[in-house]
Amino acid sequence: MSAGIYVHVPFCLTRCGYCDFNAYAGLDHLRPRYVRALLAEASLAAAAWDGEEVVSVFLGGGTPTTLDAADLKAVLVHLRERFAVTHDAEVTIEANPDTVDAPKLTALLESGFERLSMGAQSFDTAVLASLERVHGPDAVRRAMAAARERKKPFQFVTVRPDARPRHGIVDVNAGFAKLLRVAT
Ligand SMILES: C[S@@+](CC[C@H](N)C(=O)[O-])C[C@H]1O[C@@H](n2cnc3c(N)ncnc32)[C@H](O)[C@@H]1O
Ligand code: SF4
Repeated sequence: MSAGIYVHVPFCLTRCGYCDFNAYAGLDHLRPRYVRALLAEASLAAAAWDGEEVVSVFLGGGTPTTLDAADLKAVLVHLRERFAVTHDAEVTIEANPDTVDAPKLTALLESGFERLSMGAQSFDTAVLASLERVHGPDAVRRAMAAARERKKPFQFVTVRPDARPRHGIVDVNAGFAKLLRVAT
């Protein structure tokens, strides 16, 4: 049998009104304590998974990329030390466009985060505002360009455009066309 590890990072720059996830803005002062608690929890849980191959690690949120690159690396190193994470395990991190820049993406790649899941939601400024997203469409383009330009590219990048019920099919198609331009 093989296993996957999901690590939840609940911090966000701002709280989007529609979000149903366990996520918080304004608690940044808790980041160091949260990272320490994560490492301790992983050490405690590891015994129960002794001998199980771990084929995927997913850092989700919240917005994991609100943590420093050094902390994210420490979490991954710790998991690799405590669990039998295979050398070719899929290691993914979720990101918001405003929380990554070129140096951070390079640091993430060097630490072993080889798959990136970027929240775009929409390329329409008004839609992003109605969702209370912290970023505009240009931030998605900038972040995706930076992700593509790394010397060692990400193996896998998703950009999630979440169509909302009030969108017509024309809006959705336009959104996907823009998505294809930034993602390829
Ligand atoms: C929880 S977020 C985590 C990653 C990052 N913070 C972001 O916003 O992209 C992952 C995805 O869940 C989506 N999401 C959040 N609340 C949702 C809801 N109530 N229904 C559907 N999707 C939701 C977000 O739009 C985002 O694409
Ligand atoms: S940034 Fe992501 S996790 Fe945070 S509130 Fe918005 S949708 Fe939820």
